[in-house]
Amino acid sequence: MTAPAPATHAPDGSPVEFFARFPADEEPLLIRSVIPPRCEILDLGCGAGRLAHPLLALGHPVVAVDQSAEMLAHVVGAETLLADIEDLDLGRRFPCVLLAGNLVNLSGDDLADRFLATCARHVDEEGTVLIQRLDPEWALSFGNVTTERDGFTFTISEVHHDGDRIEATLTYGDGSETWEQALCGRVLDDRSLAAMLRWNGLEMVRTLDHRGTWVQAVPA
Ligand SMILES: C[S@@+](CC[C@H](N)C(=O)[O-])C[C@H]1O[C@@H](n2cnc3c(N)ncnc32)[C@H](O)[C@@H]1O
Repeated sequence: MTAPAPATHAPDGSPVEFFARFPADEEPLLIRSVIPPRCEILDLGCGAGRLAHPLLALGHPVVAVDQSAEMLAHVVGAETLLADIEDLDLGRRFPCVLLAGNLVNLSGDDLADRFLATCARHVDEEGTVLIQRLDPEWALSFGNVTTERDGFTFTISEVHHDGDRIEATLTYGDGSETWEQALCGRVLDDRSLAAMLRWNGLEMVRTLDHRGTWVQAVPA
């Protein structure tokens, strides 16, 4: 019997090869600017280590969690855990918990709520939770568009808006290959995210960038 071929996409539809190739931009420096030097980080939904690798290089030990074994196979230097974020209970806390990749928007309300509960369950009393979300203003109004960074392209098509709900197709490209992912989610402005955080015992402190895509929260 032959072994099944490794999955090309994570269960949430994220293309593994794209995330293995796509580098971080200023995000690790932004993260570092609000946490203690060399503190340990819990990276929830770490993917192929796009953020974990530069954070390790900056001296932060990282525990990297993902439900995709194929994603985790790309992560080097971190402690890796194959697990669902919503069920995670490590019985220990971290000075910094990361929930990146817009998972808070794209996972459905119940799951997003459970993700935030996992953040709350794992953050130190004096620690910080950093959440990456879709730019709320932009996400409420985007249409078909292509953007580019470092030779990588992102094309959004087949866009449907319904209040704060969005559906679209996202096509990633790196100049030689393209990958598609269906987007289905909810735009979270400051008010709605703050309410979800509060429900889970966290308090929204501030946004870290001018687009409001990185949100800092602390135990309430
Ligand atoms: C869009 S990728 C982002 C990866 C990484 N955080 C980054 O910024 O490059 C989302 C990742 O979250 C993982 N993920 C989605 N839902 C998850 C869940 N419920 N539990 C664990 N991992 C999950 C996917 O497998 C995927 O690797």
